[in-house]
Amino acid sequence: MDGKDTIPTPCAGLRIGDVAPNFSARSTMGQVELASYRDRWVILFSHPADFTPVCTTEFVALAQEAAAFEERNCALIGLSVDSLFSHFAWLRAIRDKFGVEVRFPLVEDPTMAIGHAYGMLAPGDSDSATVRTSYFIDPHGIVRATTCYPANVGRSIPEMLRTLDALQAVDREDRLAPANWQKGEPLLRPATTSLDDVYDAEAAGGWFLREADR
Ligand code: BEZ
Repeated sequence: MDGKDTIPTPCAGLRIGDVAPNFSARSTMGQVELASYRDRWVILFSHPADFTPVCTTEFVALAQEAAAFEERNCALIGLSVDSLFSHFAWLRAIRDKFGVEVRFPLVEDPTMAIGHAYGMLAPGDSDSATVRTSYFIDPHGIVRATTCYPANVGRSIPEMLRTLDALQAVDREDRLAPANWQKGEPLLRPATTSLDDVYDAEAAGGWFLREADR
């Protein structure tokens, strides 16, 4: 590799803590403006293309769990570079084949304006398809978590719900969610910054890893 080479950085784009760029675009549920979702959580997610195998399984699985996202005050917004009419045809095919109706908006992004703003396109890719990015956006419009999967691996919908549950729980209780945490399980207290707490702790590890009282 000489000095001119660069390592491709797919999904280099928005970071945790950034303001999610507003957009207004056509979708299968009418015009969508991100700013109108303030006071709700939003998961904005891209997929490479309509009428492809893995994407189809993701849409079926998300549509089947749509009520679980609604219960958590979270709107789902899908996006790809395909046209609105391609989206319509694909959702109709999904309903006919799998018996599920996708009732959350699927946005068209033919100019890739949104994809570029969010870093959903892999830089250097000759193909314009978005990769599988997901942006968890809080009710203030701030990006709180992102994920990026390649075209050939589908996302886990239970993990999307778990991430959402964890983000909501840590906000509500000012606590930390440990590895493999599931809704209803104990959260952790932030690490102490007091030396007295360190010396006063009953067990050696008790000062840096402490469950929160329920
Ligand atoms: C898929 O969803 O199956 C897919 C999409 C783009 C490239 C490869 C696979």
